[in-house]
Amino acid sequence: MKAREIEKGVYWVGAIDWDLRNFHGYLTQRGSTYNAYLIVDEKITLVDSVKSYLAEEMFQRISSIIDPSKIDYIVCNHVEMDHSGAIPMVVEKNPNVKVFASPKGVSGLKAHYKANWNFQEVKSGDEINLGSDKIQFLLTPMVHWPDNMIGYMPGKKILFSNDAFGQHLASSERFDDEYPLDIVMEEARKYYANIVLPYSSQVRKALEDAAKLDIKIIANSHGIIWRKHIPEIIKEYSDWSSNTVAKKALIVYDTMWGSTAKIADAIYDAFERKGYRIYKYNLQQNHISDIMTEVLSAEYICVGSPTLNKSLLPSVAAFLTYMQGLSPKNRKTIIFGSYGWAQQNIKDLEMYMNNCEFEIKHKINVNYIPDELQLEQIRKEVFEVL
Ligand code: FEO
Repeated sequence: MKAREIEKGVYWVGAIDWDLRNFHGYLTQRGSTYNAYLIVDEKITLVDSVKSYLAEEMFQRISSIIDPSKIDYIVCNHVEMDHSGAIPMVVEKNPNVKVFASPKGVSGLKAHYKANWNFQEVKSGDEINLGSDKIQFLLTPMVHWPDNMIGYMPGKKILFSNDAFGQHLASSERFDDEYPLDIVMEEARKYYANIVLPYSSQVRKALEDAAKLDIKIIANSHGIIWRKHIPEIIKEYSDWSSNTVAKKALIVYDTMWGSTAKIADAIYDAFERKGYRIYKYNLQQNHISDIMTEVLSAEYICVGSPTLNKSLLPSVAAFLTYMQGLSPKNRKTIIFGSYGWAQQNIKDLEMYMNNCEFEIKHKINVNYIPDELQLEQIRKEVFEVL
């Protein structure tokens, strides 16, 4: 396990989580990477760390350059344990190491690790001198937690962006010109939709501040590092954070005896005739985090469920709870389903959609099984409201 130099005197010393498939509910089909960086200057500095169970991998990479006990400074851009998990072990090797974090970062580290380390709080505009270069800090609260900050090395033009611009992607390659760009972008989009989306207004503020910097490398903390396609990923972040939607409809549903599936198909026909791009997701076969990737730019998010025991099918309730937390804005919906003797399905779907503040364009609820006449009526009604 070796370090990789990303710029003179700056090394990637992270860890690759090849087998990770669940990141707090997010399906990580391609694993993940926790990117830590070692700066070798007059002050030896570690920027972020890795999950605790991969600490040994990080130490092996650091040891290929220097003795880890020689680290003088740790910059903790974000307390979440995928980045801070190995910091206690670095402090163990050198109890005098100085730990830089935002004020909320320091309190977060103390709460996580019951630590009484050599902390130094930093705020936007502060900088630390490393010798031949320095790190300037910018607090970016809520991208992804209240404690988040980013660091910029003006001499090397490296932005340590932490979660921003990341992707859950395990690879032996490190840079965006070494790995298929379409996969990197797809994973960056999924990451944004599932992690960053609720904080889009804070992202826009951070993008404005970052636009003032001359950036040669975006050294993010998950996945592939950006050096060739920086304008492209910044443009994507600008689009994703502005809630721009395409002429695109999602039809998300689960079905008990096939009735809700028939209605989903009737709704599909109406969107097709109106020229929409359509994604149909049966929740028995699709993961909610993959659906979120398409929610990011969908004008319509239609959701269907039959009534089950005075409520929704659990798969549908799980999707709606997840989406509601991620807060996509200003979308339209059609809610639909079937019932036997209780119409609680539509009431619950309506409640979720109101919580999401989506515009409900139509409601469809069919008793037991829709026949062809009813399905034709649904096609007609949906076509008319689009
Ligand atoms: Fe990658 Fe919010 O931690």
